[in-house]
Amino acid sequence: MGFQQYRFGAAAIGLMFGFSMCITLLGPSNDFRSGVSTWVGLDKQLSLGRVIGFSYEDPLVIGDGKPVTVILDKDPKTGATYDPPIRAYVYEPGIKFSPGVNHNELLGPGVMELSLNTGKIGQADMSNGAVFTIAQGEFNGEEVDYIVNQTAVSGWQPGQVLKAAGDENHRYVGKGKTIFITEGCWWCHTLLPEQTQDWQFFGAPPFLGDMNGEMPTAFGSDRKAPDLLHVAARNSSREWMTMHFFNPRLVQPNSIMPRFDYLWGKTDINGKSIDYKKWRSDYTAYVNGQSIYPPEVPEPARDSEVRALMDWVLTSLR
Ligand code: HEC
Repeated sequence: MGFQQYRFGAAAIGLMFGFSMCITLLGPSNDFRSGVSTWVGLDKQLSLGRVIGFSYEDPLVIGDGKPVTVILDKDPKTGATYDPPIRAYVYEPGIKFSPGVNHNELLGPGVMELSLNTGKIGQADMSNGAVFTIAQGEFNGEEVDYIVNQTAVSGWQPGQVLKAAGDENHRYVGKGKTIFITEGCWWCHTLLPEQTQDWQFFGAPPFLGDMNGEMPTAFGSDRKAPDLLHVAARNSSREWMTMHFFNPRLVQPNSIMPRFDYLWGKTDINGKSIDYKKWRSDYTAYVNGQSIYPPEVPEPARDSEVRALMDWVLTSLR
Protein backbone atom coordinates (compact mmCIF):
# COMPACT_ATOMS: atom_id res chain seq x y z
CA MET A 1 0.00 0.00 0.00
CA GLY A 2 2.86 2.32 0.83
CA PHE A 3 4.32 1.79 -2.62
CA GLN A 4 1.06 2.88 -4.25
CA GLN A 5 1.32 6.20 -2.46
CA TYR A 6 4.89 6.77 -3.70
CA ARG A 7 3.73 6.09 -7.21
CA PHE A 8 1.03 8.68 -6.92
CA GLY A 9 3.47 11.18 -5.48
CA ALA A 10 6.01 10.57 -8.25
CA ALA A 11 3.37 11.00 -10.95
CA ALA A 12 2.12 14.21 -9.34
CA ILE A 13 5.61 15.67 -9.19
CA GLY A 14 6.24 14.61 -12.80
CA LEU A 15 3.06 16.35 -13.89
CA MET A 16 3.97 19.48 -11.98
CA PHE A 17 7.45 19.68 -13.54
CA GLY A 18 6.05 18.87 -16.96
CA PHE A 19 3.49 21.63 -16.69
CA SER A 20 5.98 24.20 -15.49
CA MET A 21 8.35 23.17 -18.31
CA CYS A 22 5.53 23.78 -20.81
CA ILE A 23 5.05 27.28 -19.46
CA THR A 24 8.79 27.94 -19.51
CA LEU A 25 9.34 26.68 -23.04
CA LEU A 26 6.11 27.43 -24.85
CA GLY A 27 5.00 30.62 -23.14
CA PRO A 28 7.89 32.88 -24.15
CA SER A 29 8.25 31.41 -27.62
CA ASN A 30 4.60 32.03 -28.42
CA ASP A 31 4.90 35.49 -27.05
CA PHE A 32 8.01 36.23 -29.04
CA ARG A 33 6.41 35.43 -32.33
CA SER A 34 3.67 37.95 -31.72
CA GLY A 35 6.10 40.60 -30.52
CA VAL A 36 5.49 43.80 -32.44
CA SER A 37 8.60 45.91 -33.01
CA THR A 38 8.58 49.17 -31.09
CA TRP A 39 10.40 52.32 -32.22
CA VAL A 40 13.31 51.26 -30.02
CA GLY A 41 13.37 47.82 -31.66
CA LEU A 42 13.37 49.29 -35.16
CA ASP A 43 16.02 51.88 -34.26
CA LYS A 44 18.22 49.17 -32.80
CA GLN A 45 18.08 46.77 -35.67
CA LEU A 46 18.48 49.46 -38.33
CA SER A 47 21.46 51.04 -36.58
CA LEU A 48 23.16 47.74 -35.66
CA GLY A 49 22.88 46.08 -39.06
CA ARG A 50 22.68 42.39 -39.77
CA VAL A 51 24.62 40.79 -36.98
CA ILE A 52 26.77 42.13 -34.26
CA GLY A 53 29.14 40.32 -32.00
CA PHE A 54 30.48 36.94 -32.93
CA SER A 55 29.89 35.86 -36.51
CA TYR A 56 31.72 34.43 -39.47
CA GLU A 57 31.22 37.75 -41.23
CA ASP A 58 33.24 39.63 -38.65
CA PRO A 59 35.36 36.94 -36.98
CA LEU A 60 37.60 39.40 -35.17
CA VAL A 61 34.61 41.32 -33.83
CA ILE A 62 35.88 44.71 -34.91
CA GLY A 63 32.60 46.11 -36.16
CA ASP A 64 33.15 45.94 -39.90
CA GLY A 65 30.26 45.96 -42.34
CA LYS A 66 27.97 48.11 -40.23
CA PRO A 67 25.57 50.83 -41.37
CA VAL A 68 26.06 54.45 -40.28
CA THR A 69 23.34 56.31 -38.39
CA VAL A 70 23.07 59.97 -39.38
CA ILE A 71 21.22 62.80 -37.68
CA LEU A 72 19.37 64.81 -40.32
CA ASP A 73 17.92 68.27 -39.73
CA LYS A 74 16.80 68.60 -43.31
CA ASP A 75 15.66 66.44 -46.20
CA PRO A 76 18.80 65.68 -48.23
CA LYS A 77 16.86 66.03 -51.48
CA THR A 78 14.26 68.74 -51.03
CA GLY A 79 15.98 70.69 -48.24
CA ALA A 80 12.78 70.77 -46.11
CA THR A 81 13.76 71.10 -42.44
CA TYR A 82 13.13 68.47 -39.76
CA ASP A 83 12.35 69.85 -36.36
CA PRO A 84 13.25 67.88 -34.29
CA PRO A 85 15.96 66.22 -36.42
CA ILE A 86 15.42 62.61 -37.49
CA ARG A 87 17.65 59.56 -37.69
CA ALA A 88 18.46 57.94 -41.02
CA TYR A 89 20.27 54.62 -41.34
CA VAL A 90 22.69 54.54 -44.24
CA TYR A 91 23.68 51.23 -45.83
CA GLU A 92 26.34 51.78 -48.42
CA PRO A 93 26.47 49.26 -51.29
CA GLY A 94 27.36 45.79 -50.02
CA ILE A 95 26.49 46.35 -46.33
CA LYS A 96 24.10 43.64 -45.17
CA PHE A 97 20.60 44.76 -44.18
CA SER A 98 19.16 44.28 -40.70
CA PRO A 99 17.13 41.13 -39.90
CA GLY A 100 13.69 42.75 -40.22
CA VAL A 101 14.40 43.94 -43.76
CA ASN A 102 15.37 40.46 -44.91
CA HIS A 103 12.83 38.55 -42.80
CA ASN A 104 9.84 40.86 -42.66
CA GLU A 105 7.71 38.60 -40.44
CA LEU A 106 10.16 39.39 -37.63
CA LEU A 107 8.82 42.94 -37.49
CA GLY A 108 5.47 41.74 -36.19
CA PRO A 109 1.93 42.27 -37.50
CA GLY A 110 1.16 45.80 -38.69
CA VAL A 111 4.79 46.88 -38.75
CA MET A 112 5.45 44.30 -41.45
CA GLU A 113 2.52 45.31 -43.67
CA LEU A 114 3.25 49.04 -43.45
CA SER A 115 6.99 48.55 -43.99
CA LEU A 116 6.32 46.47 -47.10
CA ASN A 117 3.41 48.38 -48.63
CA THR A 118 4.10 51.99 -47.68
CA GLY A 119 7.80 51.74 -46.79
CA LYS A 120 8.72 49.57 -49.79
CA ILE A 121 11.40 47.66 -47.88
CA GLY A 122 10.93 44.73 -50.27
CA GLN A 123 12.61 46.83 -52.97
CA ALA A 124 15.80 47.39 -50.98
CA ASP A 125 18.79 46.06 -52.92
CA MET A 126 22.00 45.31 -51.07
CA SER A 127 24.27 45.75 -54.07
CA ASN A 128 23.10 49.36 -54.54
CA GLY A 129 22.79 50.18 -50.84
CA ALA A 130 19.80 51.89 -49.22
CA VAL A 131 18.79 54.54 -46.70
CA PHE A 132 16.07 53.77 -44.15
CA THR A 133 14.08 55.93 -41.75
CA ILE A 134 11.35 55.16 -39.20
CA ALA A 135 7.86 56.59 -39.74
CA GLN A 136 4.61 56.45 -37.81
CA GLY A 137 1.45 54.99 -39.25
CA GLU A 138 -1.86 53.36 -38.40
CA PHE A 139 -2.77 49.73 -38.78
CA ASN A 140 -6.22 48.43 -37.81
CA GLY A 141 -6.77 51.49 -35.63
CA GLU A 142 -3.48 51.07 -33.76
CA GLU A 143 -0.48 53.35 -34.03
CA VAL A 144 2.69 51.58 -35.09
CA ASP A 145 6.17 52.58 -36.19
CA TYR A 146 7.44 51.14 -39.43
CA ILE A 147 10.50 51.17 -41.70
CA VAL A 148 10.68 53.36 -44.79
CA ASN A 149 13.14 52.55 -47.57
CA GLN A 150 13.84 56.16 -48.54
CA THR A 151 15.90 55.05 -51.51
CA ALA A 152 12.80 53.56 -53.13
CA VAL A 153 10.29 56.09 -51.77
CA SER A 154 12.20 59.39 -52.12
CA GLY A 155 15.26 58.49 -54.19
CA TRP A 156 17.81 59.11 -51.40
CA GLN A 157 21.19 57.59 -52.31
CA PRO A 158 23.54 56.46 -49.48
CA GLY A 159 26.48 58.59 -50.59
CA GLN A 160 24.30 61.68 -50.96
CA VAL A 161 22.79 61.32 -47.50
CA LEU A 162 26.18 60.84 -45.82
CA LYS A 163 27.45 63.97 -47.53
CA ALA A 164 24.33 66.06 -46.82
CA ALA A 165 24.47 65.12 -43.11
CA GLY A 166 28.14 66.11 -42.73
CA ASP A 167 30.81 64.24 -40.76
CA GLU A 168 29.79 65.73 -37.43
CA ASN A 169 26.35 64.13 -37.73
CA HIS A 170 27.57 60.60 -38.38
CA ARG A 171 27.04 58.16 -35.50
CA TYR A 172 28.87 54.83 -35.63
CA VAL A 173 26.30 53.07 -33.48
CA GLY A 174 26.58 49.60 -35.04
CA LYS A 175 30.35 49.50 -34.65
CA GLY A 176 30.01 50.88 -31.13
CA LYS A 177 27.90 48.04 -29.83
CA THR A 178 30.35 45.53 -31.30
CA ILE A 179 33.07 47.19 -29.22
CA PHE A 180 30.88 46.91 -26.12
CA ILE A 181 30.89 43.16 -26.73
CA THR A 182 34.58 42.79 -27.63
CA GLU A 183 35.71 44.82 -24.63
CA GLY A 184 33.57 42.82 -22.23
CA CYS A 185 31.73 45.81 -20.77
CA TRP A 186 28.94 43.32 -20.00
CA TRP A 187 31.05 41.70 -17.27
CA CYS A 188 30.07 44.66 -15.14
CA HIS A 189 27.20 46.47 -16.86
CA THR A 190 23.68 45.17 -17.54
CA LEU A 191 21.25 46.47 -20.16
CA LEU A 192 18.25 45.35 -18.17
CA PRO A 193 16.78 47.40 -15.35
CA GLU A 194 14.76 45.03 -13.24
CA GLN A 195 11.55 45.42 -11.28
CA THR A 196 10.84 47.66 -8.31
CA GLN A 197 13.69 49.72 -6.88
CA ASP A 198 15.68 49.72 -10.14
CA TRP A 199 13.06 51.83 -11.86
CA GLN A 200 13.71 54.85 -9.71
CA PHE A 201 17.28 55.25 -10.86
CA PHE A 202 17.85 53.16 -13.96
CA GLY A 203 14.44 53.64 -15.59
CA ALA A 204 11.90 51.17 -16.95
CA PRO A 205 12.75 47.66 -18.19
CA PRO A 206 12.65 47.12 -21.95
CA PHE A 207 9.51 45.98 -23.79
CA LEU A 208 9.30 42.72 -25.67
CA GLY A 209 9.29 44.49 -29.06
CA ASP A 210 12.46 46.43 -28.18
CA MET A 211 14.55 43.35 -28.93
CA ASN A 212 12.97 42.16 -32.18
CA GLY A 213 15.82 41.23 -34.48
CA GLU A 214 18.58 42.18 -32.09
CA MET A 215 21.41 39.69 -31.66
CA PRO A 216 22.91 39.37 -29.14
CA THR A 217 20.84 41.35 -26.65
CA ALA A 218 23.70 41.66 -24.11
CA PHE A 219 21.33 41.94 -21.15
CA GLY A 220 24.10 40.86 -18.82
CA SER A 221 23.54 38.68 -15.80
CA ASP A 222 25.69 39.97 -13.02
CA ARG A 223 25.71 43.63 -12.15
CA LYS A 224 28.83 45.20 -10.66
CA ALA A 225 28.17 48.62 -12.13
CA PRO A 226 25.23 50.85 -13.10
CA ASP A 227 22.70 49.54 -15.62
CA LEU A 228 23.32 51.24 -18.95
CA LEU A 229 19.99 50.82 -20.76
CA HIS A 230 18.94 54.44 -20.27
CA VAL A 231 22.33 55.92 -19.42
CA ALA A 232 22.14 58.59 -22.14
CA ALA A 233 18.94 59.92 -20.57
CA ARG A 234 20.67 60.67 -17.26
CA ASN A 235 24.20 61.42 -18.47
CA SER A 236 24.56 62.72 -22.01
CA SER A 237 27.82 64.61 -21.68
CA ARG A 238 30.40 63.65 -24.29
CA GLU A 239 33.06 65.47 -22.25
CA TRP A 240 32.33 63.39 -19.16
CA MET A 241 32.29 60.17 -21.20
CA THR A 242 35.59 61.08 -22.87
CA MET A 243 37.34 61.57 -19.52
CA HIS A 244 35.65 58.57 -17.95
CA PHE A 245 36.64 56.17 -20.77
CA PHE A 246 40.22 57.46 -20.89
CA ASN A 247 40.65 56.93 -17.18
CA PRO A 248 37.58 56.57 -14.93
CA ARG A 249 39.61 57.78 -11.92
CA LEU A 250 39.62 61.28 -13.44
CA VAL A 251 35.95 61.65 -12.57
CA GLN A 252 35.36 58.88 -10.02
CA PRO A 253 38.42 58.66 -7.75
CA ASN A 254 37.66 55.12 -6.52
CA SER A 255 36.25 53.67 -9.72
CA ILE A 256 36.84 49.98 -10.41
CA MET A 257 36.20 50.48 -14.14
CA PRO A 258 39.28 49.78 -16.27
CA ARG A 259 40.69 52.56 -18.41
CA PHE A 260 39.99 52.24 -22.10
CA ASP A 261 42.56 54.76 -23.34
CA TYR A 262 43.87 52.29 -25.94
CA LEU A 263 40.55 52.69 -27.81
CA TRP A 264 41.83 56.16 -28.85
CA GLY A 265 44.40 54.59 -31.14
CA LYS A 266 47.55 56.35 -32.25
CA THR A 267 46.38 59.89 -33.00
CA ASP A 268 43.86 62.43 -31.73
CA ILE A 269 41.24 64.32 -33.76
CA ASN A 270 43.88 66.70 -35.17
CA GLY A 271 46.13 63.86 -36.31
CA LYS A 272 48.61 64.56 -33.51
CA SER A 273 50.14 61.38 -32.10
CA ILE A 274 49.10 60.56 -28.53
CA ASP A 275 51.99 60.25 -26.09
CA TYR A 276 50.61 57.71 -23.63
CA LYS A 277 53.86 57.46 -21.70
CA LYS A 278 53.96 61.17 -21.00
CA TRP A 279 50.26 61.16 -20.12
CA ARG A 280 50.80 58.42 -17.50
CA SER A 281 53.76 60.12 -15.90
CA ASP A 282 51.87 63.46 -15.77
CA TYR A 283 48.91 61.63 -14.26
CA THR A 284 51.09 59.92 -11.65
CA ALA A 285 52.51 63.31 -10.72
CA TYR A 286 48.94 64.59 -10.27
CA VAL A 287 47.91 61.59 -8.15
CA ASN A 288 50.99 62.11 -5.97
CA GLY A 289 50.12 65.75 -5.44
CA GLN A 290 53.02 67.11 -7.50
CA SER A 291 50.70 68.99 -9.86
CA ILE A 292 47.30 70.56 -9.32
CA TYR A 293 45.60 69.50 -12.53
CA PRO A 294 45.47 66.13 -14.27
CA PRO A 295 46.81 66.06 -17.85
CA GLU A 296 44.29 66.80 -20.58
CA VAL A 297 42.48 63.93 -22.28
CA PRO A 298 43.03 63.90 -26.07
CA GLU A 299 39.97 64.43 -28.23
CA PRO A 300 39.17 61.13 -30.01
CA ALA A 301 39.76 60.86 -33.75
CA ARG A 302 36.75 60.46 -35.99
CA ASP A 303 37.61 56.87 -36.88
CA SER A 304 38.70 55.82 -33.38
CA GLU A 305 37.03 52.93 -31.59
CA VAL A 306 36.11 55.06 -28.60
CA ARG A 307 34.24 57.50 -30.83
CA ALA A 308 32.07 54.59 -32.07
CA LEU A 309 31.59 53.31 -28.51
CA MET A 310 30.41 56.73 -27.33
CA ASP A 311 28.13 57.08 -30.35
CA TRP A 312 26.44 53.85 -29.35
CA VAL A 313 26.17 54.77 -25.66
CA LEU A 314 24.84 58.27 -26.30
CA THR A 315 22.69 57.69 -29.40
CA SER A 316 21.16 54.31 -28.82
CA LEU A 317 20.79 53.98 -25.04
CA ARG A 318 18.06 56.36 -23.89
C1 HEC B 1 35.23 46.19 -13.79
C2 HEC B 1 33.87 46.62 -14.05
C3 HEC B 1 33.59 47.54 -15.23
C4 HEC B 1 33.85 47.32 -16.58
C5 HEC B 1 34.56 46.13 -17.24
C6 HEC B 1 33.29 48.45 -17.29
N1 HEC B 1 32.71 49.32 -16.39
FE1 HEC B 1 31.70 51.02 -16.86
N2 HEC B 1 31.42 51.45 -14.90
C7 HEC B 1 31.85 50.64 -13.86
C8 HEC B 1 31.51 51.31 -12.59
C9 HEC B 1 31.82 50.77 -11.21
C10 HEC B 1 30.87 52.53 -12.93
C11 HEC B 1 30.32 53.60 -11.98
C12 HEC B 1 31.10 54.87 -12.09
C13 HEC B 1 32.55 54.63 -11.78
O1 HEC B 1 32.86 54.11 -10.70
O2 HEC B 1 33.38 54.93 -12.65
C14 HEC B 1 30.83 52.57 -14.38
C15 HEC B 1 30.25 53.61 -15.10
C16 HEC B 1 30.04 53.58 -16.47
C17 HEC B 1 29.26 54.55 -17.20
C18 HEC B 1 28.47 55.71 -16.59
C19 HEC B 1 27.23 55.14 -15.97
C20 HEC B 1 26.30 56.14 -15.37
O3 HEC B 1 25.38 55.70 -14.67
O4 HEC B 1 26.48 57.36 -15.57
C21 HEC B 1 29.31 54.20 -18.51
C22 HEC B 1 28.63 54.89 -19.68
C23 HEC B 1 30.14 53.01 -18.60
N3 HEC B 1 30.56 52.67 -17.34
C24 HEC B 1 30.41 52.34 -19.79
C25 HEC B 1 31.27 51.25 -19.87
C26 HEC B 1 31.68 50.65 -21.12
C27 HEC B 1 31.19 51.09 -22.48
C28 HEC B 1 32.53 49.64 -20.81
C29 HEC B 1 33.30 48.76 -21.78
C30 HEC B 1 34.16 49.44 -22.71
C31 HEC B 1 32.62 49.57 -19.35
N4 HEC B 1 31.85 50.57 -18.82
C32 HEC B 1 33.34 48.61 -18.66
C33 HEC B 1 32.46 49.40 -13.97
C34 HEC B 1 32.89 48.81 -15.14
